[in-house]
Amino acid sequence: MIAGYPTTAQAANGKAADRFARDVLTGLSRHLKTLPSMYFYDEYGSRLFQQISELDEYYLTRVEGEILDGYGDEIARLVRARPLRLVEFGAGDGRKTGRLLRSLLEADLELEYVPIDICESVLVELTGSLRRQMPDGDFRVRGIVGDYFDAFSLLDPAAGRTMVLFLGSNIGNFEPRGAVAFLRAVRRSLVPGDWLLIGFDLKKDPAVLSRAYNDAQGVTREFNFNLLERINRELGGDFNRRRFRHEAPYNIALGRMESWLVSLVAQRVCVPGVGRSFAFARGEGIHVECSYKYAPAQIARLAAAAGFLVRASFFDRRRWFVDSLWEAAPGT
Ligand code: AVJ
Repeated sequence: MIAGYPTTAQAANGKAADRFARDVLTGLSRHLKTLPSMYFYDEYGSRLFQQISELDEYYLTRVEGEILDGYGDEIARLVRARPLRLVEFGAGDGRKTGRLLRSLLEADLELEYVPIDICESVLVELTGSLRRQMPDGDFRVRGIVGDYFDAFSLLDPAAGRTMVLFLGSNIGNFEPRGAVAFLRAVRRSLVPGDWLLIGFDLKKDPAVLSRAYNDAQGVTREFNFNLLERINRELGGDFNRRRFRHEAPYNIALGRMESWLVSLVAQRVCVPGVGRSFAFARGEGIHVECSYKYAPAQIARLAAAAGFLVRASFFDRRRWFVDSLWEAAPGT
């Protein structure tokens, strides 16, 4: 490992490129075509998400930043432990986390920060800028490149307490059952008394949601189409984006935003890297993302089902978003 460089999680089930090919083959072979949303985040996609997070319409990142600014001191008081290991799943550019780190350091905590992200370039940028900005001594950072599940294998028992950060409504990408399974896995990596700070986007006027995922500049559309372009780049596919349209409806029954790429014509798309072509009917969609919106009662149930106790909930003034502080409950 190069000093200062992120560790790459050793995937038990093959190299990253093979997994991408396998997941594309599985997803596009299904009757209802799907692609896992984690593949949005190659270098270009991660940059596009940074742009999304700065859009007026995409309130999530901004509102959560306000919550973490406003309650950072209180969070520091509640988790007060020295040393404290902070493990962040899907850290991205970590801009809003930087401010939380500062609050924790001002409260005189000693921190080891372990950001995990599937995109190496964004992680190198994040760890580099933190090393330059943060005071030495009480702050160490070690990045891990990998998906959420790979990363668990690299978390050895901590010297002190651990706080897991799962911010930005990343949990929204999981189906309800997957959310419980993932948070149980998080719980198993912790000991009673450890912490999880988790961000949920809350249910609200669907018009607000719809604007957030259908921005006027079309950055979200580009972010979605990057998935097809990535298949073209990495697997030699011949997707023609003019033959698809991006649709992001709110599903009221399921309480989630959905992102689809819908074929405008009957067509066949060839993907040499997976050794197959795929037929699309006119109007047939590929489901590429769901972003679940929670009600407070659902959050409480999820915490209990995953083995956590809700210790505090930090809302913005409009109650559009919540960062919920959970403590690992005794037993498993
Ligand atoms: C980064 C998963 C929280 O679901 O809102 C943004 C990704 N998708 N615009 C979300 C996303 C479309 C985002 N998360």
